[in-house]
Amino acid sequence: VGEWTRVEALVAALENRTVLIRGRAQAIRPVGKKMAFVVIRENGFTVQCLVQAQPDTVSTQMVKFAAALSRESIVDVEGIVSIPAAPIKGATQQVEIQVRKLYCVSRAVPTLPINLEDAARSEVEIEKALQAGEQLVRVNQDTRLNFRVLDVRTPANQGIFRIQSHVGSAFRQFLLSENFVEIHTPKLIAGSSEGGASVFRLDYKGQPACLAQSPQLHKQMSICGDFGRVFEIGPVFRAEDSYTHRHLCEFTGLDVEMEIKKHYFEVMDIVDRLFVAMFDSLNQNCKKDLEAVGCQYPFEPLKYLRQTLRLTYEEGIQMLKVCLKICKLINLQVVDKKGDRMMDVGIEIEPFGDLNTEAERKLGQLVLEKYGTEFYILHRYPLAVRPFYTMPCYDNPAYSNSFDVFIRGEEIISGAQRVHVPEFLEQRAAACGIDVKTISAYIDSFRYGAPPHGGFGVGLERVVMLFCGLNNIRKTSLFPRDPLRIAP
Ligand code: 4AD
Repeated sequence: VGEWTRVEALVAALENRTVLIRGRAQAIRPVGKKMAFVVIRENGFTVQCLVQAQPDTVSTQMVKFAAALSRESIVDVEGIVSIPAAPIKGATQQVEIQVRKLYCVSRAVPTLPINLEDAARSEVEIEKALQAGEQLVRVNQDTRLNFRVLDVRTPANQGIFRIQSHVGSAFRQFLLSENFVEIHTPKLIAGSSEGGASVFRLDYKGQPACLAQSPQLHKQMSICGDFGRVFEIGPVFRAEDSYTHRHLCEFTGLDVEMEIKKHYFEVMDIVDRLFVAMFDSLNQNCKKDLEAVGCQYPFEPLKYLRQTLRLTYEEGIQMLKVCLKICKLINLQVVDKKGDRMMDVGIEIEPFGDLNTEAERKLGQLVLEKYGTEFYILHRYPLAVRPFYTMPCYDNPAYSNSFDVFIRGEEIISGAQRVHVPEFLEQRAAACGIDVKTISAYIDSFRYGAPPHGGFGVGLERVVMLFCGLNNIRKTSLFPRDPLRIAP
């Protein structure tokens, strides 16, 4: 009896050994009645198996059975490893299995709703194939998401979710090594944690409640509970009606909260070191996955500096203003990547407002040209555009001790120093139109001694999307939830 072997481990050194493998039948090719080739895939590695009728070992009945297997069925194959005369096309392993036994463990339906070969092609390959007159169905995003269990089997999608897993583990590892404690805060809470209308409301045994829009209030309360430095990886719910390429109704939040001694710069220092370590680790340890993603969705590796660039919001505004002024002077339209005319789309620059998406993108381009980085921090935002719990700047309360972080011109993080003085917090909540009664337990936590503190929240799906230069967050969410989708 053969030994269980991973397809990845099937190499020439195993020649003449009997092995047992389990995988999916990726391709089945009958050759007459006495022979069939079955390519078996396991974890992205593939091996060609030859089922050939032979007097004592393999019956023609068995060849017929193999030829009739449906694609993507799960099969066990026992056979002898051999080295073929010519290199094998269409398989990662350069050995062949001479099949002796073959079992179908789980049969897939004969016709799959998605052709996985088509689903794995890049845009360039699709164009070429269409021009060559090939019959090909472009698999659109909705179809992919409707049949996600099939769609995620493509090499690019396998790569995306392995990269996502690595982002989570790099985040956890770094923070644990810096003495942070991993916490788990409730997702069923009494009031909104971020304010605004984007709250899923529900009935909690007769009491009004919401799904947490972030762990914000409870991570701060954990700091009042003396943990010093905490982090959480967990679901975040936003009932927003945003039909964009970067908004989901449920995403995974990577949250951090920590005591600070003097300055919110201490929080930005953690962002800086954490993300440089994470990007380095992705580049070193996820080469194969990054390559798989790039084959289908070509992208340039992220440009980042050893020490992350920090600009103030005012400096950012100034860069945008100068750029727009020059464009006007030479009567040039600012054009974004897709060729939209930015002047018409409207970069809105308000000294005490927020940057709109176009302005963020444009600033990203300007920063890349001037500083050679696609990853940077913009800090000291106007107070008016930040949540009620944000600490105003001591020298000018029109600004705040807060920051956003960008990859390729799009936001992945927002963070800040928080107000830790309960009376002032009450004032700020009321000024921002929040019913203080609904967050009284949170405000009360600061009445028993609360250290100055700050933190930040990262959107996991956005990090993966932007690191890999992808164009839609639905590609980096395993089972995305958006305003139009709650299944599968
Ligand atoms: O900017 P947000 O709303 O900030 C907070 O939740 C704060 N409590 C964080 C803090 O500690 N101050 O969300 C943080 C990050 C964003 O930068 C973005 O990456 C992601 O979460 N995010 C979303 N991702 C997908 N879909 C959405 N609807 C998102 N909203 C925010």
